[in-house]
Amino acid sequence: MLKKDRPAILGGTPVFSGVLPILRPSLPELDDLLVALNNVISTGQITNDRYVKEFEEKTTDFLEVKNCVAVSSCTSGLMLAVKAMGLTGEVILPSFTFSATGHSLLWNGITPVFADCVKDTYNIDPKAVEKKITEKTSAILAVHIFGNPADADSLSKIAKKNNLKLVFDAAHAFGSCCNGIKVGGFGDVEVFSLSPTKLLISGEGGLVTTENDELAEKIRIGRNYGDPGDYNCEFAGLSARMTEWNAILAIKMLEFLEENIERRNYIANLFRHRLEKLPGISLQHVKLEDKTTWKDFSIIINSKKFGVHRDILSLALEKENIKTKKYFDPPIHKMKVYDEYFNNAETKLPVTEYISNNIISIPVYSRLSDNDVDNILSAIERIQSFSSKIRMVLGKP
Ligand SMILES: Cc1ncc(COP(=O)(O)O)c(C=O)c1O
Repeated sequence: MLKKDRPAILGGTPVFSGVLPILRPSLPELDDLLVALNNVISTGQITNDRYVKEFEEKTTDFLEVKNCVAVSSCTSGLMLAVKAMGLTGEVILPSFTFSATGHSLLWNGITPVFADCVKDTYNIDPKAVEKKITEKTSAILAVHIFGNPADADSLSKIAKKNNLKLVFDAAHAFGSCCNGIKVGGFGDVEVFSLSPTKLLISGEGGLVTTENDELAEKIRIGRNYGDPGDYNCEFAGLSARMTEWNAILAIKMLEFLEENIERRNYIANLFRHRLEKLPGISLQHVKLEDKTTWKDFSIIINSKKFGVHRDILSLALEKENIKTKKYFDPPIHKMKVYDEYFNNAETKLPVTEYISNNIISIPVYSRLSDNDVDNILSAIERIQSFSSKIRMVLGKP
């Protein structure tokens, strides 16, 4: 075997000579933003003005929902949505998610109740949700993980049957479709993130979408301290408006969002084709009738079959100059802040814990060339074929 055929962790040449980051946002050209930016400078209207309105109108059309309310982040949007719906007591949510999903409940004094997820979709398991309902439950807060739509149909039925509100943390899912319908109008409210790791980026930002006019109005007031406009605040809102700068960027990015999603789906297919042939790798299952943004491409490594643990794969990829992430490890029920809401002595979320312990996200973004994709795949294949040697050298699985 030639030296160059060995993985870099065993002294071979890295597949990339420079570092390949986990993420590279596809941003517009500065020239394409200048007219709008100049308008803002010349009018002095820096926040929550014509470009925010334009962004809300354009997303309302794109998502085919009745109301879009632009906010400062998905976190603030979730906090406001929970507040505006008057949720109390307990809310059921997945633990396999980003911290902010749960934080939106803690900020509203609500007890998070974690339900396990489905092994192949990584989304909250409706059957597990049903088992967690008590008389204190006021809502279900589901997440479209990595853009893969949660089972909106089953969750809606459960919510309806038990008279619960249904909220979707759609942080990853702008442009995803569930049963052929764009995510945004499911449940009582959905909240998107427009932060730099997403496909539709405003810098920092969020978007709350709902078919309920009254709720939308309350969130509009809520993003402005709870002030309807006469300084006589109706409730304790937040300062969570979107600036015009953020809206200008997001409006431009919306123009090439579909193209971005298509490119990511194409890359995901290239990944899928070759990774499926390797032992010990399982991929996120997307239902035929659904569409995902592939906000992240994450794979689960069965260390016994693959040959090395996810952590060693991550280290070996680092040596190939490929950055990876462990989205989401730890799951949020294992975070210090959630200790008091979860009895860690007992493993109650076995699927979540299995996924978190074995998952790894590899780079996926529109600007990856086919050659980059080929290099990433070759690196994983080389690492797998040398896995027993790597184990021997490192002295651990
Ligand atoms: C599932 C999920 N929810 C919420 C958030 C918070 O989004 P933001 O940074 O816009 O507040 C994130 C951030 O990536 C996320 O991944």
